[in-house]
Amino acid sequence: MTLLGIRNLKVYFYSEDGMVRAVNDVDLDIGEGETLGIIGETGCGKTILGLSILRLLSENTKVEGRILYKGEDLLKLSEDEMRKIRGKEIAMIFQNPLSSMNPVLTIGTQVAEPVELHQHLDNQNAKEKVIEMLKSVRIPLPSKRVNEYPHEFSGGMRQRAMIAMGLICMPSLIIADEPTTGLDVTIQAQIVELMKEVLKDSGTSMLLITHDLGVAAELCDYIAVMYPGEIVEYADVRNIFKNPKHPYTRGFLDSLPGRGLKPIPGISPSLINIPDGCKFHPRCSYATGRCKNERPQMIEVGEKHYVRCFLYD
Ligand SMILES: Nc1ncnc2c1ncn2[C@@H]1O[C@H](COP(=O)(O)OP(=O)(O)OP(=O)(O)O)[C@@H](O)[C@H]1O
Ligand SMILES: [Mg+2]
Repeated sequence: MTLLGIRNLKVYFYSEDGMVRAVNDVDLDIGEGETLGIIGETGCGKTILGLSILRLLSENTKVEGRILYKGEDLLKLSEDEMRKIRGKEIAMIFQNPLSSMNPVLTIGTQVAEPVELHQHLDNQNAKEKVIEMLKSVRIPLPSKRVNEYPHEFSGGMRQRAMIAMGLICMPSLIIADEPTTGLDVTIQAQIVELMKEVLKDSGTSMLLITHDLGVAAELCDYIAVMYPGEIVEYADVRNIFKNPKHPYTRGFLDSLPGRGLKPIPGISPSLINIPDGCKFHPRCSYATGRCKNERPQMIEVGEKHYVRCFLYD
């Protein structure tokens, strides 16, 4: 069953330098209990895509298309209706909890916020719920630590608290934006392990935004590869790594440590001056005249495997 269906999503900003086309005609589905990874280079629009689902973008943004959550278009809801979705139905976990947490409020107060808002629990019940959650994300001595402030937590413990806050209302979907970026490798591995367990136990679906393919490989069932504003390849996690089709996906994989460290020639286009045709054509060694002028559609190359490239037409 599809939990979230994104249809022809476009997100534009008006900036001094021109129109920023951050998301261009994105179509994606996330099934119940499924984890979909969005991977791509910095600035390609991953965070904007995540924020647009919860309608957390600034006023100067133009959003078109449909974002169907349990069949209902989130883009058509009122701000009041949207507030009932955020944190309760769909929660977001951000990178760097220190900047998204309030330094003057205790961890307990912040983790309790979604339950106080959505389940109207009183302080005492909310606090018990928080302690239970902190325990489930394996924060030691939760009844003591619940009264501490964010700066008293280590980076890894803060990220655990953030996950607890995301899960406290048992949402159906978690949007996790670079949840392990900035943590050191051992802590990163622990957080990945924790996320794997909690997702399995709760059956929660996840949209995982990351440029860390190791993390994506561990956590995702499916992966969508994003190249300035659009999805260029979608496949199950095994096929993305073992059988990548798009020249960009291949290049991206080859640029990684352990897989050749061979950078893709040229630079990623800015979202203001996106090339016509296939957006990757200026950097692609297979590009033909057609790639310069015509935008490739998603082509099915295998079971649940789609590629936006004329090589497979
Ligand atoms: N409010 C805004 N107004 C104009 N442009 C914006 C705004 N917010 C983001 N952008 C631009 O949109 C583009 C996409 O940004 P986004 O944060 O989604 O990238 P990302 O793929 O998440 O990158 P990273 O991997 O570095 O987190 C960037 O070029 C950014 O400068
Ligand atoms: Mg980002």
